[in-house]
Amino acid sequence: MTVSATHTVGDLESSAKNRNVVLDIRNLKVYYATPTGNVRAVDDVSFQVYESEIIGLVGESGCGKTTTAMAILRLVQPPGRITGGQILLDGTDLASLHGQALRDVRWNQMALIPQGAMNSLNPVMKINRQIADAIEAHEGRQPAKELKERIINLLATVGLPSRVYGMYPHELSGGMKQRACIAMAIALHPSLVIADEPTSALDVVVQRVVGETLLDVKERLGVSMIVIGHDMGLMAQLVDRLAVMYAGRMVEIAPVETVFHEPLHPYTQLLIESIPSIKQRKPLKLTEGLTHDLRNPPPGCIFQLRCPHVTDICREVNPPLRELRSRHFVACHLYE
Ligand SMILES: Nc1ncnc2c1ncn2[C@@H]1O[C@H](COP(=O)(O)OP(=O)(O)OP(=O)(O)O)[C@@H](O)[C@H]1O
Ligand SMILES: [Mg+2]
Repeated sequence: MTVSATHTVGDLESSAKNRNVVLDIRNLKVYYATPTGNVRAVDDVSFQVYESEIIGLVGESGCGKTTTAMAILRLVQPPGRITGGQILLDGTDLASLHGQALRDVRWNQMALIPQGAMNSLNPVMKINRQIADAIEAHEGRQPAKELKERIINLLATVGLPSRVYGMYPHELSGGMKQRACIAMAIALHPSLVIADEPTSALDVVVQRVVGETLLDVKERLGVSMIVIGHDMGLMAQLVDRLAVMYAGRMVEIAPVETVFHEPLHPYTQLLIESIPSIKQRKPLKLTEGLTHDLRNPPPGCIFQLRCPHVTDICREVNPPLRELRSRHFVACHLYE
């Protein structure tokens, strides 16, 4: 393997020269305090999101994806706490914002479609009122006619017919509810939308429709997105770059085609190999091995207990995320 250059992510990605960074996460740490010790849910994670790009955040259940999203919006609840790092949105460190200033940034500059969002729509409120509430909470009372027009336009942007305006959530299918949540998230024209598992609990066809809606919204409005998920098929369809987390750490970030065709981290390789294929049936490799306790990570590499290539250095030194090739970041001793 030829390795061209190495830089650390903290130095800012070299490929960022010609593109604007919307979100810059540096050495983020989020711990949950428990009676038996701190759960290191996000442990020294750094990555950037560029203007008008969709970055996919993948990794197995419990690896810290939702915690990362909540930390970006400064919505981590106790016993969770951001214990370190910086979150820069359009150059402003969110840690320096409090109260109203922070609330203004949420929704106006970035919006979250939370995990299970479609189930958190208010069942006794029509869709138009719920979207109107989101708008008026930030912009104050709006003239009725303009507000209605704006909501119908928003619904159209996510591919929903105008009749949805007067409907209750129970009158909508899962995919329609999820698209209503996307409409709500983009209501105030944020520059960043974070969607946490926007397609789980939907059938495969509807998953694709919701995926296409997100893509369409990105192209039309030029927003940047972080899409969290497990569905690698959806990621292949939707995202520009893929960021792979394992046990609270970022292990690989690269353009999505690179991750699919040339995954470098052994965990990413297992993840790609485990994508089911009817042509080539094989055992599910990811069931091998066990994740360690997040309260007590081993010294060295986070993946050592499951890694087929583990060596002595992996047990001692935590490999930093380095740019091994242009735009391809990997945290693994194999490539040193
Ligand atoms: N309130 C809490 N107290 C203690 N530990 C927590 C708490 N909330 C989350 N965790 C732990 O933090 C880790 C990360 O959780 P998180 O919800 O971010 O994972 P995730 O990657 O979003 O998983 P999933 O794919 O299942 O949604 C997990 O190991 C979880 O057990
Ligand atoms: Mg989650």
